Amino acid sequence: MKPVTVSTLSSMKAAGEKIAMLTAYDYSFGHLVDQSGVDVILVGDSLGMVIQGHDTPVPVTVDDCAYHCRCVSRGVERAMIIADLPFGAYQASIEQAWTNSVHLMQAGRAHMVKLEGGELMAETIDHITSRGIPVCGHIGLTPQSVHQLGGFKVQGREPDAAKRLKNDAAAQQEAGASMIVLEAVPASLAKDISESLDIPTIGIGAGVHCDGQVLVLQDMLGIYPKQSPKFSRNFMLDNDDIGAAIEDYVASVKDSRFPAVEHSFK
Ligand code: KIV
Repeated sequence: MKPVTVSTLSSMKAAGEKIAMLTAYDYSFGHLVDQSGVDVILVGDSLGMVIQGHDTPVPVTVDDCAYHCRCVSRGVERAMIIADLPFGAYQASIEQAWTNSVHLMQAGRAHMVKLEGGELMAETIDHITSRGIPVCGHIGLTPQSVHQLGGFKVQGREPDAAKRLKNDAAAQQEAGASMIVLEAVPASLAKDISESLDIPTIGIGAGVHCDGQVLVLQDMLGIYPKQSPKFSRNFMLDNDDIGAAIEDYVASVKDSRFPAVEHSFK
């Protein structure tokens, strides 16, 4: 089985093949998600909510991410594994971002790191990528900044905010990012951004025109005890077991049945 690499992702975008990404945080689910055909596994700092039971990802540490990523990596053969740089692990300085990225690659066995923030992060992305670590950006609703944003809200609805997000995406691509997550932005804006970039975009609450999709595993299995976001879908409602639900998710992303209009924003 050929492993998914940054070249695979860029060929998928060029060929118009959608990228299916899903979170996982442990060995057993890492294995199942990989075997179910997911292309990219994200060990997201959403683990703060779905694994640790916090209300936000803010309390998550880089050691938490490295630990869960290492567990996932033992179960995965094909998928690319991305680890989140959590809140406070990369904003202090470029050196801090580099050191913690190395930690996620070495201790966590990640293949790529993800960080939140727009143009402001371009210098950091340039530093990390030019020294050999691929980076995925994350713009729009950036959950680590939930207290600054005033809640988990759709971003980029006003013309100025939309323009800022387009600039953020262009700056991150220019800085060397391999991929960008667009979270909770209007579908039309995500389409514009996706069409303007050479690198793939991965949407979550960003409409069907992104180059791929990501969901939080516990949301798409309907097992998160608190409220899941409107942009998620419970794939267990139509499937008898977890493997089938994940395969349904992958197939639905690949043929653009997910996300539907009701999972998207105007
Ligand atoms: O932490 C996470 O799981 C994420 C996704 C929601 C994109 O960043």
